[in-house]
Amino acid sequence: MREYKQEINITPELQARIDELMSRYPADKKKSAMLPVLHALQDAHEDWLSVDLMNKAAEILDVQPIEVYEVVTFYTMFNQRPKGKYMLEFCRTSCCAIRKGEDLLEYTCKRLGVKEGEVTQDGMFSVVGVECLGACGFGPMLQLGDYYHEHLTEEKIDTLLEDCKQGKVKLH
Ligand code: FES
Repeated sequence: MREYKQEINITPELQARIDELMSRYPADKKKSAMLPVLHALQDAHEDWLSVDLMNKAAEILDVQPIEVYEVVTFYTMFNQRPKGKYMLEFCRTSCCAIRKGEDLLEYTCKRLGVKEGEVTQDGMFSVVGVECLGACGFGPMLQLGDYYHEHLTEEKIDTLLEDCKQGKVKLH
């Protein structure tokens, strides 16, 4: 498996944020701060966590690196490789799958000229498949930033990609 490299930069602001998050938990239970600390580290590092950064998290949380890897590989909101500015997260669980969600994921990859998980050369897009996002009655669907795009069709995807290119799509 390819290992992606990332420059780790724990700025004083980030350290202060981590200290504040960890102060919410008992000093002998640092592991309890794992999720918020990982989010803080990811937010400060272009929205992804390399192995080196996960190892740094383990050091901060005083746990074994494997305990961090287990969490990061379980939750799809943690990214283990660089991502595009617009990361299209297609639900690939049953309700969306039977409504051709996976075909739309493949369609999008072809349109962008990438494989699942890759980033387009211009750094704009990446496409990933994720488990159920809780909008099963509105599939096929995808998440882009904080928003859901539902009842997808190829035409809707074409429009969405075009809107992203024109900077018309809100992420947060
Ligand atoms: S199966 Fe797709 S949102 Fe639940």
